[in-house]
Amino acid sequence: MQKELEKVKKDFQTQIKKVTDLLSLENLEQQFFSRKNGKFTEIMKSLKDLKEDTRKEFGRLANDIKNELELLLEQKRQDFQSQMLGKIAQTESIDVTVPKLPGEERGHLHPNTLLQYKLEDLFTSMGFLVWDGPELESDYYNFTALNIPPHHPARDMQDTFYIKGHLDWVMRTQTSSFQVRALQKFGVPLRLIVPGRVFRNESTDPRHEHTFYQLEGIVVGKNITFGDMKGTLETVAKHLYGEQTQMRLRPKFYPFVEPGVNGEITCSLCSGKGCRVCKYTGWLEIFGAGMVHPNVLKEGGVDSTEYQGFAFGFGMSRLVMLKYGIEDVRHLQSGDLRFLQQF
Ligand code: PHE
Repeated sequence: MQKELEKVKKDFQTQIKKVTDLLSLENLEQQFFSRKNGKFTEIMKSLKDLKEDTRKEFGRLANDIKNELELLLEQKRQDFQSQMLGKIAQTESIDVTVPKLPGEERGHLHPNTLLQYKLEDLFTSMGFLVWDGPELESDYYNFTALNIPPHHPARDMQDTFYIKGHLDWVMRTQTSSFQVRALQKFGVPLRLIVPGRVFRNESTDPRHEHTFYQLEGIVVGKNITFGDMKGTLETVAKHLYGEQTQMRLRPKFYPFVEPGVNGEITCSLCSGKGCRVCKYTGWLEIFGAGMVHPNVLKEGGVDSTEYQGFAFGFGMSRLVMLKYGIEDVRHLQSGDLRFLQQF
């Protein structure tokens, strides 16, 4: 056992010396510490087969080594990050004394940002933490950890951009990719939102973009119910579109929640009477949600017999369109000043 541990440690130490960028560093971390089949994790798992006294002894040794290696990882990560920041500082500078050019106007916030801030204010007032997740994400957090194993048909609907030479990395297709990261990082009880950019391989049209924004939320604790979820989501809908707004939930399958729903609100453009935007139904879909699946809690290291909770994902670009009556999602990323100057 001791030999095995020393060998993994050596292995790790040689490999980390060869790492030259953040991406390979994350890969190395997965290789050794992934919960599924990390080299180190496997050894930790085999500890349980030992006799009690030897288990204790090796447990302590394994833990010491783990801490040591994690420290190495962290140091390396910080090195890369400060290298990057250093480069930026050298090449970019801002002279705040330069007078503005004639005709040059002060900028203002993008409608997306305006809405995001509005939601962040609301959620922080309800005790949520606001966090940010990586856009370049491992296949594991984007899919597998969310109960979507390789070859699961649910992957088809979220085809995305893969990274040449790193096929286990994707541009995240959903902010749900942060659910398991959040559980692992903060543990329970948890109340957190993650607004952010997501990517899909879509042919674009007025309602579809390859790059858009979502706002994810996850709440886990003791005795959290479907009713809590409904109340929270209704509060958001009314906050954005007014007290008269109604919401309805209908069953929908997402592998990472059970039961799962999609959420619709009365169309704010025609007040539910029916118009082109809501395709004459009076209702508009603005989020997916549900009770967090026990498999997801398990991946996050949470005991699903004791804790439960809900998760939701708003299509934030959709919310912006409704709020400001924008008829084509592609305006949002166009950079077209004729569009932007209206806000
Ligand atoms: N991530 C889902 C989507 O992109 C939405 C969702 C989030 C559904 C959280 C359930 C829970 O469609």
